[in-house]
Amino acid sequence: MAKLFWKPGTLLYPVPVVLVSCGDIQGVKNIITIAWAGTVASDPVMVSISVRPERYSYKLIKDSGEFVINLPKRSMVRAVDFCGVVSGKDCDKFQATGLTAVAAKNVKAPLIDEAPLALECKVSSMNDLGSHHLFLAKVIGVQVEETLIDRNGRLNLAKADLISYVHGQYWTLKEAVGNFGFSVKKRMKKE
Ligand SMILES: Cc1cc2nc3c(=O)[nH]c(=O)nc-3n(C[C@H](O)[C@H](O)[C@H](O)COP(=O)(O)O)c2cc1C
Repeated sequence: MAKLFWKPGTLLYPVPVVLVSCGDIQGVKNIITIAWAGTVASDPVMVSISVRPERYSYKLIKDSGEFVINLPKRSMVRAVDFCGVVSGKDCDKFQATGLTAVAAKNVKAPLIDEAPLALECKVSSMNDLGSHHLFLAKVIGVQVEETLIDRNGRLNLAKADLISYVHGQYWTLKEAVGNFGFSVKKRMKKE
């Protein structure tokens, strides 16, 4: 295959696109759209978000040491974009989007009620990476919409209609094409 050789670029796609809620539910609160987010460890569960210091949310997260990662569903895509192009300096994004701030269990930062999944996080360290500062955080609790739990008590995330971010576009997740470990599982014997 013929390939082009490009200079470094942010081309690790698809990635999650999340709504990070921050601040204090009783006081100043805000939502920022984040695409540079990821899971970095499983035990303890650790995540990272990268935030430019000039963002209004940056100080809220830095000062409180807390935030919530809310996973948006397809019907929230307009709010996802809006929270990524308008600053909380100029507008109350909860009011403007109609998203509902509800109390989290373990942090002062609000949760977004409409999001099917929310991860409550406490910052454990910060790292200046240049354009962005990386917040490493411990997930201290997860809130899941009840309707996503199937009859066997398992989380059915396919039902959540989550979206991802791919090179400037928001995408739905179309279909599953395999299960974890399926490549090494013995084939079922034909009856
Ligand atoms: C899809 C998308 C992804 C974004 N990802 C990030 C990100 O990872 N880090 C960041 O600092 N800003 C990111 N932004 C930009 C901020 O969300 C945007 O500047 C926002 O208005 C900042 O809000 P605030 O000033 O209220 O904190 C993203 C924007 C969009 C639309």
